[in-house]
Amino acid sequence: MSEFQLEMLYTPGDIESAIARLAREIRRDYRNKNPVLLGVLKGCFVFMADLVRALDIPLETEFVSLSSYGPRRTQSKGTIEVFQGLRKPVRGRHVIVVEDIVDTGITVDFAIRYLRRRRPATLRVCALFDKTARRRVDVPIDYLGYKVPDCFLVGYGLDYDERFRYLPGLYCLKEDG
Ligand code: PRP
Repeated sequence: MSEFQLEMLYTPGDIESAIARLAREIRRDYRNKNPVLLGVLKGCFVFMADLVRALDIPLETEFVSLSSYGPRRTQSKGTIEVFQGLRKPVRGRHVIVVEDIVDTGITVDFAIRYLRRRRPATLRVCALFDKTARRRVDVPIDYLGYKVPDCFLVGYGLDYDERFRYLPGLYCLKEDG
């Protein structure tokens, strides 16, 4: 069985600083707008929890569960499965899509189209990590934490076959042998 090495890219402190900055930007734009933060599960769950607490303004949270990758997440299937759709209408609301990472862009692109059909007043995207090297669809990221290199990323909600999501930092996963 192959083993893994984890190379740290961002410490928990780095991530905390990025989230504090994102929270300042979003707070400036959405104070008094009671936005809906729409998390894309599963990967967003750690980021979402930290972001809403850093924001500290009235807001609502919703989730959709989408996936474009098989269990080992090495290659995007290019099609999205909706495991759980929106439970409440967002018509007329200010919606911010919250993603842990934008990679090919296919998931966010799908989420944007899915939400536009539901007629929000405004729609923006907040992503903690942006991996541009494998982008296949041009998508807007209105609030961005960090650009990341083209390696297999785990931690802070990101997984390899459901492993490593719990790690508090962001790591590059390297496979031995
Ligand atoms: C990951 C991540 C994003 C998506 C980004 O989710 O959480 O939602 O991939 O990749 P893309 O830009 O190439 O579409 P994944 O499909 O692995 O499901 P998960 O969130 O349940 O881990």
